Amino acid sequence: MFRAAIEKMQPYVPGEQPRPGQRLIKLNTNENPYPPSPRIRRAIARAVAGDGLRLYPRPMADEFVAAAAKLYRVPSRMIVAGNGSDELLAMLFRAVLDPGDTVSYPVPTYPLYDTLAAIQEARVIRAEMDRDFGFPVEKLIDAAAKLTIICSPNSPTGTEVSRRELIRLLDGLSPRLVAVDEAYADFARRGLLGLVRSHRNLIVLRTLSKSFSLAGMRLGLCFAHESAIRQLLKVKDSYNLSRVAQAVGCAALEDARWAQRNAERIRRTRIEVTAQLRAMGFEVPPSAANFVLARMAGIDLSTVAAGLRKRGILVRYFGTALLYDSLRISIGLPAEMTILIRELKDLAAPLTLMSPGWRIVKEDSPRPRPPRPSQSARLNRKRPALAAPA
Ligand SMILES: Cc1ncc(COP(=O)(O)O)c(C=O)c1O
Repeated sequence: MFRAAIEKMQPYVPGEQPRPGQRLIKLNTNENPYPPSPRIRRAIARAVAGDGLRLYPRPMADEFVAAAAKLYRVPSRMIVAGNGSDELLAMLFRAVLDPGDTVSYPVPTYPLYDTLAAIQEARVIRAEMDRDFGFPVEKLIDAAAKLTIICSPNSPTGTEVSRRELIRLLDGLSPRLVAVDEAYADFARRGLLGLVRSHRNLIVLRTLSKSFSLAGMRLGLCFAHESAIRQLLKVKDSYNLSRVAQAVGCAALEDARWAQRNAERIRRTRIEVTAQLRAMGFEVPPSAANFVLARMAGIDLSTVAAGLRKRGILVRYFGTALLYDSLRISIGLPAEMTILIRELKDLAAPLTLMSPGWRIVKEDSPRPRPPRPSQSARLNRKRPALAAPA
């Protein structure tokens, strides 16, 4: 009854969202632990007053777009607003990719790109990052895909592309499109949005879900040359942002200092947590985002993720060939991170005592494969028998 491509594809699986009332320390979907600007309550009250809910919202979210134009110093005609940046990504894939067209991105990265490519029946050219999770710029240029996506800071690695690398990519791929997913840019030193004025093939995506603490409101922004915006608008739902969302978006952008202060707090906690995890034996690539990737090369960390879950702490475990030995941990409140580190010490410390011979894959192996479940079960049974090093 459905398209063969849809029947065949795997659905995107979002991180676990607790049920109402369930008390968990939630470090699995990179939400902001601090509340949004207090101005937002008033904006919601105004948006629902009078005819607010009876009438359709403005199709182009004009005031929200104008607030974005002012804050980011980009003309309104170069901006389209989305129901979260996920919707903008979906619009981009829909507008650019026919079946059989190529899309390329570094891996590991945001798994939604795979889902959107599968829906379009596009051919994905995955460019593997190097061991330090640097960006494979030359591989992406060689791939010469119709659409190239760079997530920077990248999820789940936290690493960022440099301005010089992005310019090399834009020039090397021009006139093909390069989209930079900057969902986490506000936690980095600086973003790459400024390049949108000088590069016609650049599309930049931002979200209010992370730094503005508004994941529940679904607000995203896309910046590009006006000719690209015109095409994207053709595939947009007419009323993609509710009146409430538009009002909230304006209030949030007008109080951007609130978000900047929270981002600064998160950066400080990130530095501390990175040092603590490294002291425990995890490899942690330098993160420019509101999460860190904690890796123990060659060791399946699924049991650690499950152990944390039992103790009421959610982190993101992907279990793929590139990430089975890693946990992505969102930066929460300092008190939450103290609990995480305490529990992690308990659960992960025995793993750090394993001699390399016990590891599923040797550390120098270029491409670790995920262990078979039976293998990892065997490993866990053996763990208590391991002698502590002298
Ligand atoms: C890299 C990346 N891009 C986009 C998104 C989606 O953001 P939004 O909430 O705006 O849809 C996420 C959400 O986690 C993300 O990690």
